Amino acid sequence: ATVAAPTWAARLRDIADFPKPGILFKDIMPLLADGDDFRAAIAAMCARWRGQRLDAVVGIESRGFILGAAMAHELGIGFVPVRKPGKLPGKVLREEYTLEYRSDCIEMHADALPAGARVAVIDDVLATGGTLVAALALVRRLGVDVVGAGVLVELDGLGGRGRWEAGLPLHAELVY
Ligand code: PRP
Ligand code: MG
Repeated sequence: ATVAAPTWAARLRDIADFPKPGILFKDIMPLLADGDDFRAAIAAMCARWRGQRLDAVVGIESRGFILGAAMAHELGIGFVPVRKPGKLPGKVLREEYTLEYRSDCIEMHADALPAGARVAVIDDVLATGGTLVAALALVRRLGVDVVGAGVLVELDGLGGRGRWEAGLPLHAELVY
């Protein structure tokens, strides 16, 4: 049986050859710009975590901030950012990683969460998985319990899910 895509899925836009030739970019901006569909997408992402005790949502800069902060607000819990380097003012932990089209690193405040806190890590798109796997390692260095991760879109065929830890929940609302 096939599962019908939610109506908000039609708001995602494919842009070829961005940011480099050969990359098919999934643009979530038209979805964010529509109030009802943005709300429906956030509700779907939040539904994965209802009934579980979560202390905070961890969102990955930049697009993971938009979805993660909306989810935290909806779930009534805190939001903690994983940022691009050099942005956080306090003592940070840094994790380096390699992406489909570049290498990068991410940072988190060393005191952002208490050890033992239960969090979900949120981003917009899972592609190679480099970003999400790096975020998992980074958050865990704080002694935090990562209950799982959620993305709006999983790009199948780039190996992202295969790089994710076996047995740890990774929810995707749409798979392309
Ligand atoms: C994009 C996307 C994910 C990541 C997915 O972020 O938002 O965070 O790449 O790729 P991966 O699974 O291969 O790691 P990007 O850093 O390009 O830009 P952003 O600041 O707009 O989120
Ligand atoms: Mg991103």
